[in-house]
Amino acid sequence: MTSTADFYDFLAERYNARARFARSLQDIFNYQPEFEMIEDMILSNGGIINGAVPCIVNPDSYFNFEAQLAFELLLTMPKPKSGKPKALEIGQGVGQALQRLDLLGFDTTGVELSKKMCELSQKNSPNSKIINADILDLKIPDASFDIIFAHSVICLLKYYDGVKLIEKIKKWLKPHGFLFLSTGQYPEDFEGHVSKSDLSFGKIPETNMTRFKHHYSKESLLKLLGIVCDMDVAYRYLMRDGGPGTERLFQNCICRRR
Ligand SMILES: C[S@@+](CC[C@H](N)C(=O)[O-])C[C@H]1O[C@@H](n2cnc3c(N)ncnc32)[C@H](O)[C@@H]1O
Repeated sequence: MTSTADFYDFLAERYNARARFARSLQDIFNYQPEFEMIEDMILSNGGIINGAVPCIVNPDSYFNFEAQLAFELLLTMPKPKSGKPKALEIGQGVGQALQRLDLLGFDTTGVELSKKMCELSQKNSPNSKIINADILDLKIPDASFDIIFAHSVICLLKYYDGVKLIEKIKKWLKPHGFLFLSTGQYPEDFEGHVSKSDLSFGKIPETNMTRFKHHYSKESLLKLLGIVCDMDVAYRYLMRDGGPGTERLFQNCICRRR
């Protein structure tokens, strides 16, 4: 069993060893993410981003896609009275979304558990404020951010810590601010230590390292966000990524603080 921080330190070293940072997943892992848009349009704020999605064609990577979408969404929101709109990324990994958000004109902050991922993301997104901390321990003033990203992070927390995280995010968002959250989609919920089957990305030898994960089904994630945490799940789509043998289904939710 490996702690989450050690696991991602290890992964960061591997990325570093590749001796280059690519702006997109496609470059890093040499595969083409495939979009399986758009599974369902959910509930009350469905109209808000209706116009935005089809006009965004960004083949680079899903992170760029998400960042672009965040930018488009921001255009539907009241502009900050002064300064740039503020984006927080939780568990930014190597920082490709931060980099893109910075380019799009956001003031960006990343909070990351792994020290080595912090170093990489600072290198890749030099204008971002990078904080090496456990997001669950961090104190952030209420209503600080227009947009918060949490890609593939909630799945690394126990269920009840996931609920705590969303409760914190709700406070940190400005009213009607957006949360972009993604995690794998599985037929049933599961909690326990698992190995990362796609760690090699077809290139690097596998290891036996395992780390904690919570697998969410579609129903359990929607319940956590919408019913337990009272977020407005405005939009949800599925995305398939990974190569042959390592294909995964991601569920991506765009939620709004009520
Ligand atoms: C699966 S990676 C995703 C990285 C990036 N968001 C992406 O989608 O490429 C999860 C990241 O979250 C970080 N992380 C995990 N638990 C965390 C916590 N409690 N607080 C802050 N960061 C955390 C890990 O160190 C890791 O870099």
